[in-house]
Amino acid sequence: MGTQGQHTVPVSFVLGASGAAGQALVEELRIGAGGQGGRVIAHLREGSPRTPDLVQQFEGCGAEVLISPFETLALRAALQELRPSHLFILHGTTRRRAKAEGIQGDPYKLVDLALTRVALAACEGLTNLPRVLYLSAQGTRPRARSPYFRARFEAEESVRASGLPYTIARAPLIHRTYRSDPRPAESLGGSALGLLASTLRAVGCKQRAAHIAPIQPAELARGLIHAAFNYTTLSRVLEAGELRDERPIHRADPIPATRRDDARH
Ligand SMILES: NC(=O)c1ccc[n+]([C@@H]2O[C@H](COP(=O)([O-])OP(=O)(O)OC[C@H]3O[C@@H](n4cnc5c(N)ncnc54)[C@H](OP(=O)(O)O)[C@@H]3O)[C@@H](O)[C@H]2O)c1
Repeated sequence: MGTQGQHTVPVSFVLGASGAAGQALVEELRIGAGGQGGRVIAHLREGSPRTPDLVQQFEGCGAEVLISPFETLALRAALQELRPSHLFILHGTTRRRAKAEGIQGDPYKLVDLALTRVALAACEGLTNLPRVLYLSAQGTRPRARSPYFRARFEAEESVRASGLPYTIARAPLIHRTYRSDPRPAESLGGSALGLLASTLRAVGCKQRAAHIAPIQPAELARGLIHAAFNYTTLSRVLEAGELRDERPIHRADPIPATRRDDARH
């Protein structure tokens, strides 16, 4: 196995860059982080339907775009050449999307879990090991009844067992105004959770509200950057409240400024 932490300027490699979370992350790394997010490579899988628009969008904010198959060998070659300090794994599917792509069987096993393992396998044998930020979901736990959460937990376990430095971020429902594929159940669930969170906040249950309220993609992106670039979050699973702008300070904070590994500071 190689070594980690030999990079001076961060190099972020983003899988799932075309998604709502991925787009916000690329933008936040390049622009929101005060331009200190370093070099950012947005990975688009070959044949992704929104490629031309996204290339323009990403290059417009100073990110680089890599279009390649989401496969171990292709990814390993890219990682070997680009030597990222951070690997963000943000891909995932839905039943509807998987069906439209002709994927037969459990989509969460075949896409969410299997491609996470592909990304981890691509890191095997690298000289410089990237730190992995895995975007998981609130509610993920062992022996969950839902196939989605079971696959997420297995993916988390694969990340933990990979030997790579990692942080797992269990995001709450992502609230967004734009969606390429309409998801009425998600929108309805988001509105209901938003309402419940406001009520909880009004009666003083701020922590509970921070746990369940939907999160805007840009706020999530800032939370992911904080999670990925700090020592205190290494080898940890962060729950929803810790991904928000107003996150509680972890008891290991504050760390001396000289040891801070945060792209924004
Ligand atoms: N949405 C939420 O509320 C929420 C909450 C917590 C966690 N999460 C998890 O976080 C992840 C990202 O969420 P999001 O809202 O950004 O999702 P999204 O907008 O649906 O984006 C999904 C990403 O996964 C990629 N993808 C989908 N199917 C693929 C396949 N067969 N092979 C390779 N790549 C594929 C997409 O690439 P293309 O553009 O090429 O299709 C896109 O980059 C998801 O896995 C989701 O489970 C979501």
